[in-house]
Amino acid sequence: MKFASKLAIAAVAVTTFGATAVIAQQDPIAARKALMKENGAQAKVGAAMVKGEAPFDLAKAKTIFATFENAAAKMPGLFPDDSKTGHETTAAPKIWENMADFKARFAKLGTDAKAAQASVKDLDSFKTAFASMGKECGACHQDYRVKKN
Ligand code: HEC
Repeated sequence: MKFASKLAIAAVAVTTFGATAVIAQQDPIAARKALMKENGAQAKVGAAMVKGEAPFDLAKAKTIFATFENAAAKMPGLFPDDSKTGHETTAAPKIWENMADFKARFAKLGTDAKAAQASVKDLDSFKTAFASMGKECGACHQDYRVKKN
């Protein structure tokens, strides 16, 4: 019985994974927005620690960087030619004109986020790594997002 229920759980996990992949293919805009929303939520957690509104927590710091790394790995695949408009996307047309640069920025964010998971040990090192990644977020948004008023 125990084995059977483990199998059932594994089957559900596999189905969920498959569904996520299908959603990403069918709706890349929703998928990239969801990844970026998660980045935003994690950035808030980090900002609270930097400002001293929340105590520094190394596990949380690693989760923040792991989230950024995961998004950086998946984002480049979510800008097919047919996803330039719709779903209230704020992705700028410039992305498709400068795809190599756009993807390179995610590669850099991913590398930095991975390195930070290993190097960050305390609040000071967290502040440094978090601030430099924050600049990467902001610079890409500046160049590759349409501002909505
Ligand atoms: C290389 C470019 C790039 C980098 C780096 C980047 N973003 Fe984004 N981000 C985008 C683009 C493009 C969108 C718009 C996606 C869309 O609407 O289709 C976006 C959207 C967002 C959104 C809005 C999501 C929504 O609700 O629609 C948030 C929040 C966000 N990014 C947070 C972050 C954070 C935090 C970081 C840094 C850890 C980051 N981003 C790094 C390109 C980037």
